[in-house]
Amino acid sequence: MQEQVASVGPDELATLKHLALEGAADAPTTVTCAALAERLDASNQTASRRLQRLEDAGTVEREMVGDGQRVTITDAGRRTLRREYEAYRRIFEGVAEVALHGTVTSGMGEGRHYISLPGYMEQFRERLGYEPFAGTLNVDLDAESVEARARMDAMDPVRIDGWEGDDRTYGPAFCWPAAVLVDGETYEEAHVIAPERTHHDADQLEVIAPEKLRDVLGLDDGMEVTVRVEEQ
Ligand code: CDP
Repeated sequence: MQEQVASVGPDELATLKHLALEGAADAPTTVTCAALAERLDASNQTASRRLQRLEDAGTVEREMVGDGQRVTITDAGRRTLRREYEAYRRIFEGVAEVALHGTVTSGMGEGRHYISLPGYMEQFRERLGYEPFAGTLNVDLDAESVEARARMDAMDPVRIDGWEGDDRTYGPAFCWPAAVLVDGETYEEAHVIAPERTHHDADQLEVIAPEKLRDVLGLDDGMEVTVRVEEQ
């Protein structure tokens, strides 16, 4: 629950969208700062800084060439754009749920520690309406679901605030209401949990629930499950 990534602001996002429209999501595309600056109604310096920020955030790769630079949008960049697209989809189409598929896997026992910390537990009780089983069920998402996960980011989560412990601070997290489906059985009262500033490429989902899902649903490592994330 701790990975972080440099953020992409609205100006960088507009730049990324422009690059994608120029074809950089599919193949290396030559751009000059002058042309980009004109398109974005900004100075050369500003255009150059935005490209730099996009590169720092891992959303584009760049190679300097004689007449400018060849820019390619990375998978992370595509996902950044997709999140934006999903937000518009929600605005215009009212998409209110997403089904993510993957296999059950074991983590390193960290979930147990975090979930049982009193600073979080109290909020779970108040805001989710239950006391979660101490741990997180980890689900390794398939490639399609890693992309589709962006839809989740367009849904309103329950916010769990960060707090100060004795020796360190604990970051805020988001919880999305979810159901876990396996072999025709459905467990409704679960939540997907992720740190507020998440690494959006994350290919694992962490699920919390009032009960131990492995016991209730008879889950073992390697079993396929669907996690249906729903609008509140
Ligand atoms: O070792 P790992 O990080 O996967 O687990 P954990 O977060 O410490 O959770 C302890 C165990 O409970 C793991 O086997 C989880 O898969 C499982 N678990 C579960 O079955 N249902 C939950 N609601 C939470 C955790």
